[in-house]
Amino acid sequence: MSELTARLQQEQDISDEELIVLIEGGDDQEDLKKRADAVRREHYGIEVYTRGLIEFTNYCKNDCYYCGIRRSNTLADRYRLDKETILACCKEGYELGFRTFVLQGGEDGYYTDDRICDIVAAIRAQNPDCAITLSLGEKTKESFQRYYEAGANRYLLRHETADEEHYRMLHPESLSLQKRKQCLWDLKEIGYQIGSGFMVGSPYQKTEYLVEDLRFLQKLSPDMIGIGPYLTHKETPFKDFPNGSMEQTLRMISILRLMFPYALIPATTALGTIHPRGREFGLQAGANVVMPNLSPTGVRKLYQLYENKICTGEEAAECRGCLSRRVASVGYELVVDVGDVKR
Ligand code: 5AD
Ligand code: FES
Repeated sequence: MSELTARLQQEQDISDEELIVLIEGGDDQEDLKKRADAVRREHYGIEVYTRGLIEFTNYCKNDCYYCGIRRSNTLADRYRLDKETILACCKEGYELGFRTFVLQGGEDGYYTDDRICDIVAAIRAQNPDCAITLSLGEKTKESFQRYYEAGANRYLLRHETADEEHYRMLHPESLSLQKRKQCLWDLKEIGYQIGSGFMVGSPYQKTEYLVEDLRFLQKLSPDMIGIGPYLTHKETPFKDFPNGSMEQTLRMISILRLMFPYALIPATTALGTIHPRGREFGLQAGANVVMPNLSPTGVRKLYQLYENKICTGEEAAECRGCLSRRVASVGYELVVDVGDVKR
């Protein structure tokens, strides 16, 4: 049976009930994947874009129940990268063929707006032909505006779950879904290319919540949608919850590709962590971006949102080579490109 998949592809109004059947795997899985891949080829050919991820601080003032670098994890070894180190990562990345850098970190008060702007402006001056992506969590609209004027042009902020009740189960009182969504609207209004997304299989998640995630994304219409399986970390309150499933994550990637044909969809590190060929499967299911780590090898193990994260021992060049081969092994091509969305 592949009637639902066909309907999803034809952009006919698909009901919540039908989405639930699709999300739970009630339609022909091979057909879903095939159609998603056909749509990705129609829009992006066999090209796979790459982003160089620089995890510049693992200090965080927040205490999300699922995250290994939460404030209450006193066992986490904390680090910060200075401007020179970040610039060196970008320089090395550029030479390896990266044309976009993602500065990602916990919500770390040490990096004031002045410091962020100083770093962004320096990257911009060093790499005028590159996209600069920030992923620093929730900030005021004024702060977002300042970073934008300093030279940043993309921002990643996953909404994590679009359901109020579920959001409450994953986060402490101090955080609110409404605020998080507002940040995404603010970023969009300023002119950033934005990315959002959610975890698949996070504790207490119901299929209904995933439908809400899709509905929220339909309203937001982000340029990038990042999803990965929830993965456990023993120093969090969720340590006894099981990992999310690879199969459901792959299914969600295909559904996203059919609902958002234009979208940039990464085959995430979390997907590569849950299965040795997870990222390759992600590409085959409709993903078209990979985001390898450019952080200095010495700190990679310390940015541990979840356990057993891959690529923590390799150098940037090794990762690029490895990924390029992995991408080619499933018939796609890792390209040197700033990797803009094709609306
Ligand atoms: N498992 C999987 N993904 C996680 N993230 C945070 N903690 C985990 C975890 N335990 C994701 C969140 C966040 C992104 C940077 O990493 O979705 O937005
Ligand atoms: Fe990092 Fe393979 S992608 S080593």
